[in-house]
Amino acid sequence: MEIVPLATSRAVAELAADTIESLVRSRAGSVLGLATGSSPLPTYRELSRRHAAGTGPSYAEVRAFLLDEYVGLPPGHPQSYRVTIARQLTDRIGITGDRLTGPDPDPDGLPDAGERYESALAAAGGVDLQVLGIGADGHLAFNEPGSSLSSHTRLKTLTDQTRADNARFFASPAEVPRHVLTQGLGTILRSRHLLLIATGAGKAAAIAAALEGPLGASCPASVLQLHRHTTVLLDAAAAAGLERAGHYREVYDAKPDWQGL
Ligand code: GLP
Repeated sequence: MEIVPLATSRAVAELAADTIESLVRSRAGSVLGLATGSSPLPTYRELSRRHAAGTGPSYAEVRAFLLDEYVGLPPGHPQSYRVTIARQLTDRIGITGDRLTGPDPDPDGLPDAGERYESALAAAGGVDLQVLGIGADGHLAFNEPGSSLSSHTRLKTLTDQTRADNARFFASPAEVPRHVLTQGLGTILRSRHLLLIATGAGKAAAIAAALEGPLGASCPASVLQLHRHTTVLLDAAAAAGLERAGHYREVYDAKPDWQGL
């Protein structure tokens, strides 16, 4: 894992945007894995700003896959992750709807929705770079504590804490769906590069548990320790609980330019 403690969430967004742009410049048809939630928002804003300013790469051949999706919302609901990511990023940078794929929450197809999503990911050649956030309880995508570390895309039930955390996006807490479709932890591990973004004091404990705690299903994000190319971008508040933060900073500062992230 490469853990990069930066000073501000602005610095995190700029470095994350640089990393995504550098991939797209080197591979026009790259496959991006996109997370929703507030953590990647400043990065998405930065990518959109650069695209509008004409300094970003072309996304005309890029395909994007979502990490997860709510089940039970009417199609086109503004809080569905497909609509959310289109509003926050893909529409803004020119990734058209036909190049954006998410798990299909249609109630009639739920039993094999996970398998179909795994097939779609495989047919696209897998994800080149997966953007990730982390839940306050250490969840990754919608893999709650207790999720199998080798799980595939499937239906999951949200914990009360995650429903409460996400209630801010809905008119009332009761409207937050109970069920979701989510890439499994094993699915996420198949992405070629994982880019986890965490900012703010509310993520400090989860980050410390995931990166320096034991590997285990009680902290799903600890599965990142198994991936050979994980980059974690943190602001000072999110890095505050890390015992070895000083060392990570030193490693990053001493990194040869040719290495990249
Ligand atoms: C949701 C999403 C996750 C996200 C998490 C944290 O549960 N499914 O992908 O990482 O929230 O969200 P936020 O970045 O808003 O704190």
